[in-house]
Amino acid sequence: MIIDVILTPAELPALAERDLGRMVCVVLDVLRATSTIVTALQNGAAAVIPVSEISEALETGRRRPDVLLGGERKGVKIRTAEGEFDFGNSPREYTPEKVRDKTIVSTTTNGTRALRACAGARLVLAASFLNLGATVNYLGEKRFEHVLVVCAGTGENLALEDVLAAGALCESLLDIGAATELSDSAQIALAAFEKAQWNLPGTISKSVNARRLLAIPELSDDVEFCLQRDVVDLVAALKGDEIKTLDF
Ligand code: MLT
Repeated sequence: MIIDVILTPAELPALAERDLGRMVCVVLDVLRATSTIVTALQNGAAAVIPVSEISEALETGRRRPDVLLGGERKGVKIRTAEGEFDFGNSPREYTPEKVRDKTIVSTTTNGTRALRACAGARLVLAASFLNLGATVNYLGEKRFEHVLVVCAGTGENLALEDVLAAGALCESLLDIGAATELSDSAQIALAAFEKAQWNLPGTISKSVNARRLLAIPELSDDVEFCLQRDVVDLVAALKGDEIKTLDF
């Protein structure tokens, strides 16, 4: 298995020019899009539909009155002339009572865009620290040839927490003997994780995204929540427009 890592969102537009047909893309947006998606699925959501724009979410909601709307801009719940969304982007909002059997349309600053940028890949997975182990086990079992890890980033910039999660993924795939070759960017992610792993919360709390969330009282607990390791035992896959729990 050859692992490559996209470190920054600036590299995402080039994905449209690449043939991703043989690639398995693993999208990481630790704070908080993919952490929220896998939490919603764990709590019984039927599916999450990632869209890039608020207008797309609203249009889907008009077309499908059964869906709920979730997402953020600048970290907080979206409010439009048509009212506020059902959810922001805190995984703690997506409780079983609210999401069971529901389909949620989600739009976030970076994470949902990164997921959509991988359209055309052989397979697109949404991963986080919450379900990293399940994702590693699945990738190891299938022994895919090419894995492209996509760090969603924040704004136009690299997000430290996403790169560290990419490094953790690389280390685990090496440990189980599934990974045979790491690109230079994958080696950067691995080296960063190996250095930070002994104090991951302390390191990540200094990231731009974490500091932003920690400064908002009602969102500050999201950082600790999203850094939990392997508390979600599912693999989340984008098939067509919907992210669902992969049945394998
Ligand atoms: C993103 O998609 O950029 C993040 O998830 C933003 C957030 O959740 O605050």
